[in-house]
Amino acid sequence: MESVAEYFQTLVEYGRADGSAWPVDLQPEQLGLGREGRWIVLPESVDLLNQRAIEGGLSNAARQWSRSLEVFPAIDSTNSALMALGASIGGTVYLAECQTGGRGRRGRTWFSPFAGNLAMSLGFELGLPPADLGGLSLVVGLALVNALEQFSVPDVGLKWPNDVQVAGKKISGILVELQMIAGRTYAVIGIGINVALPRTVEAAIDQQVTDLRSHTGSLTRSTVAATVINSTYDFVSQFVSLGFEPLRDVWNSRHVLDGCMVDLHGPAGVLKSGRVVGVGGDGALLLECDGVVEAVVAGEVSVRQQQS
Ligand code: BTN
Repeated sequence: MESVAEYFQTLVEYGRADGSAWPVDLQPEQLGLGREGRWIVLPESVDLLNQRAIEGGLSNAARQWSRSLEVFPAIDSTNSALMALGASIGGTVYLAECQTGGRGRRGRTWFSPFAGNLAMSLGFELGLPPADLGGLSLVVGLALVNALEQFSVPDVGLKWPNDVQVAGKKISGILVELQMIAGRTYAVIGIGINVALPRTVEAAIDQQVTDLRSHTGSLTRSTVAATVINSTYDFVSQFVSLGFEPLRDVWNSRHVLDGCMVDLHGPAGVLKSGRVVGVGGDGALLLECDGVVEAVVAGEVSVRQQQS
């Protein structure tokens, strides 16, 4: 074996015969591998995605919706690749073993070590204008709560707008991106779930995180992927038909910050402080500041619990 990349080339079932998609400049850490001095430590086992198993696990409704499902060994970002499809986004699902340029909310990076994370993007063509889509990313959070609970993960909660937490630690992030083409709205729903984070990676992330492996029995990433696709399709369909309002109470009941005093942070620091009194019918965070309830729009601010 000449290199780490070559090792993984033998594991990955390439869709392309020449294997030309493999980015040989990846560092071992990006592949979820450890180092001991000059040595690279290979994992004991690798749970690769299996396209057929994922497709076989889809519900009838999700199968009818999904026009194409593709698994990439490595990709810059499943969201970026799907966005580039333009008007062909609808019904397409991209998954990757590893992302080299995974993107998070508010310009952050999202680390997806090889086979340790579930990185996927689902494309929807929506018959709604962007102004009506304020609650969409919150609804995807509920879809993930529903999926995780199918695996009996305990203590699953949401942190506005759409972090999914288990016992207060982040397990999943959601990045929804929209584009308008010829008057139609297209949404790319990007979902990252920590499945089996290498402990070295976990330690390097600047917030409290957890992974599925710490809360469930043995599960393949393909099973998790199919369950998440099914649940996301169901919740997005419900949102498209009925909007966010019917899901608002259940969302609030899952909100880990509900009733808490919080600071609202913008790029330049704390913008305001107040008590969380729920989310509005458009998905905005409702903050009570000095007796006045103010709506904070998704994507513009972040929320942190006050230290004192
Ligand atoms: C966040 O919590 O900041 C959102 C993270 C979203 C990560 C997912 S992984 C699949 C998709 N592709 C990306 O580049 N980002 C999303």
